[in-house]
Amino acid sequence: MTLLAHLGLLLVALASQVQGQDLLNLTTAVQTVTGEAIYLPKPIPVQCAARFQSTKPISVIMVADDGTFSGTSEAVFILGFLQNKLQAPAETNPCQQFYTGTLLGHPVVVAISGIGPEAAALCSSFVAECASNVKDFIYVGTSGYSSQVGGALNAPGSCVPHGVTTQTRLGDIAVTPYSVNWQCKLASWTEQCTGFPNICTYPTEEAGPLVRSLYGQCIFSTKTAASTALADELLAAAKTPLFAANALKLQADFNKTLLDYETSYWNLTSIGTGVTYPPLPAWTGPRILDYTQAAEIDGQFFFSGTPWDMVARNYTALTLNLANNSTLTQYDVTAVNAEEGIGVSAALDSHNSLTALPKISYTFVRGASDLLYAPPLQVSPGNWIDNPAAPAANFDTQYRFAIQTTSTLILTFFQLRCQAAGNSAATCGFTLPELP
Ligand SMILES: *[C@@H]1O[C@H](CO)[C@@H](O)[C@H](O)[C@H]1NC(C)=O
Ligand SMILES: *[C@@H]1O[C@H](CO)[C@@H](O)[C@H](O)[C@H]1NC(C)=O
Ligand SMILES: *[C@@H]1O[C@H](CO)[C@@H](O)[C@H](O)[C@H]1NC(C)=O
Ligand SMILES: *[C@@H]1O[C@H](CO)[C@@H](O)[C@H](O)[C@H]1NC(C)=O
Ligand SMILES: *[C@@H]1O[C@H](CO)[C@@H](O)[C@H](O)[C@H]1NC(C)=O
Ligand SMILES: *[C@@H]1O[C@H](CO)[C@@H](O)[C@H](O)[C@H]1NC(C)=O
Repeated sequence: MTLLAHLGLLLVALASQVQGQDLLNLTTAVQTVTGEAIYLPKPIPVQCAARFQSTKPISVIMVADDGTFSGTSEAVFILGFLQNKLQAPAETNPCQQFYTGTLLGHPVVVAISGIGPEAAALCSSFVAECASNVKDFIYVGTSGYSSQVGGALNAPGSCVPHGVTTQTRLGDIAVTPYSVNWQCKLASWTEQCTGFPNICTYPTEEAGPLVRSLYGQCIFSTKTAASTALADELLAAAKTPLFAANALKLQADFNKTLLDYETSYWNLTSIGTGVTYPPLPAWTGPRILDYTQAAEIDGQFFFSGTPWDMVARNYTALTLNLANNSTLTQYDVTAVNAEEGIGVSAALDSHNSLTALPKISYTFVRGASDLLYAPPLQVSPGNWIDNPAAPAANFDTQYRFAIQTTSTLILTFFQLRCQAAGNSAATCGFTLPELP
């Protein structure tokens, strides 16, 4: 080594020492900056009034799909009853579509965020900039459901049928402020799919959604008192005779578009499991799940299959347990699988953690548009497959029906608020249009 090279090494050593020193100084020199000045400029009240076309606080109704996926916009019925409807130009906001107007006497924003948690978070943040003008926030949409509470098969443990538990019917509705990310799992292909092709195999994971160091936040199990109050108001609306009457109007559509599918699904589940499921009564309205029974389990992996549903129910139980110190297991819950809740929660929880700004109460309303797995069939003791005779799902009619039931709940909720404010029956009434 030449003298020059030695000198070079010495310089490098000195430089890294100085850099180390600087870094140390940087970390010790940081002080906490406080005060209003560091917040980004917020829209002033007059701008928020213009954004929402209202000087009174508005309710936000947000959905994901404009109809691109299922053929029916998740906002179609709500927009249909929106008076003084104005659409904001696309270049003024990050939502896919943004409307203002009056819904059964109430000033509202109806926004289509676009599909996925990122789109939902961006659109929610845009709304949150004007938090002082937001009365409350409801994210409503469609979702895949476990076919029954606790699923059709037991795993881990013995691969036996779960037996009869409350069955899901398309159009059922979950009202919950909680969400969890189904994607948060560390597992190799062989771990995840051990047991393939036996569908009664619980996927193995090394790290699940509690491991923030790997995935960031996966579980959104906190709520404000206002969020549970909002969920409670929706749940109370669902228990009224008015909702029962409004929902019953959908019976003919259920019979026409979903009854055969449902009958055939449960016929095959009975045959495949050997469990006698009692015939379901005539459909008269959706079953309502509350926030002790459901959290939204989100994924961009559009899953279908018994093992994935097992994981979804496990994460759901975990989230509900964290939310309310309960001791549920995956056999006690129904998975309600969608995509946007975690984005909305990330945006609004982070907004709600800011000091000196009004908090936004929010909740999710999710209608059952499809079942998360085919009827299982035992081919030899302990060995299960998807029944190849499973009836084909029809997303067009199934999603549309879930949009009808959830829209009926949202509209009934505003109808009740409208009546409570002393408005006329004409102002508060609505009838969903007949569908082809
Ligand atoms: C780093 O901090 C030490 C004392 O803690 C000081 O002597 C030194 O000058 C500082 N270096 C720089 C680059 O600020
Ligand atoms: C369901 O099973 C019953 C008898 O077990 C049968 O009469 C009926 O046709 C089946 N329906 C469908 C849609 O598979
Ligand atoms: C729907 O089907 C049920 C039987 O499942 C029947 O009792 C009811 O009258 C039907 N309703 C309509 C409107 O067709
Ligand atoms: C917590 O659990 C109790 C008992 O089941 C229930 O009454 C209450 O509504 C739950 N609260 C929340 C916020 O989940
Ligand atoms: C949570 O529940 C356990 C029993 O399951 C009880 O021992 C504990 O006190 C509860 N914690 C809170 C904060 O309620
Ligand atoms: C979830 O599954 C794990 C095994 O992967 C199990 O240890 C845990 O008890 C389950 N949690 C719930 C809430 O079912």
